[in-house]
Amino acid sequence: MEALKKQAALKAAEFVKDNMILGLGTGSTTSYFVEEVGRLVKEEGLNIIGVTTSSVTSKQAQELGIPLKDIDDVDEVDLTVDGADEVDPSFNGIKGGGGALLMEKVVATPSKDYIWVVDESKLVDSLGAFKLPVEVVQYGAMQVFKIFEEKGYKPAFREKDGQRFVTDMKNYIIDLDLGRIEDPIALGKELKQMVGVVEHGLFNQMVKKVVVAGQNGVTVLEA
Ligand code: A5P
Repeated sequence: MEALKKQAALKAAEFVKDNMILGLGTGSTTSYFVEEVGRLVKEEGLNIIGVTTSSVTSKQAQELGIPLKDIDDVDEVDLTVDGADEVDPSFNGIKGGGGALLMEKVVATPSKDYIWVVDESKLVDSLGAFKLPVEVVQYGAMQVFKIFEEKGYKPAFREKDGQRFVTDMKNYIIDLDLGRIEDPIALGKELKQMVGVVEHGLFNQMVKKVVVAGQNGVTVLEA
């Protein structure tokens, strides 16, 4: 599995060009990409500015010597490369397994190009087997939780070390156990208009390319 993740990440790195402002995603697959960007900067002298999507990626990028800027200190992002938890045939996806979905969506949205790196196990016919993360403000989080319960969405607060998990943006995550999402577009709109919801992990038709590594090699799917 790790070998496949690395293959996908290295393929995505072929899209990196000199002088790019590069969105750096979060997760185990993307970390191989960040590692390769570090090598391109150090060994091949590429002039790259990274814009990170989590404190974890910031730390990795800093250790690798990749120059970083805040999303609000760049005019545009040329390319963002990130992982995903599930991808359907219409290029809808679930992200946020690592809890970084809000920053990931903030960086992906203005990006001129947006690539996901996945192993083939992430490709699904329909989304929802992976629990859908929803980022909610701490204040009144139980109110949102109760609405999810009433809707039958089987919510659970994400926890870490016996405490509610707190995101880099200081919010909670509620994971929804939906089983199968019939209409990701409609669900995305429904979640987005709920008071207390900051962002959800449905990344519907945002991605432009999905680099998939499988037993038969690496494929680039274009949206
Ligand atoms: C982080 O919040 C996520 O969106 C990740 O990008 C996603 O969970 C994929 O992570 P892995 O590459 O570790 O599976």
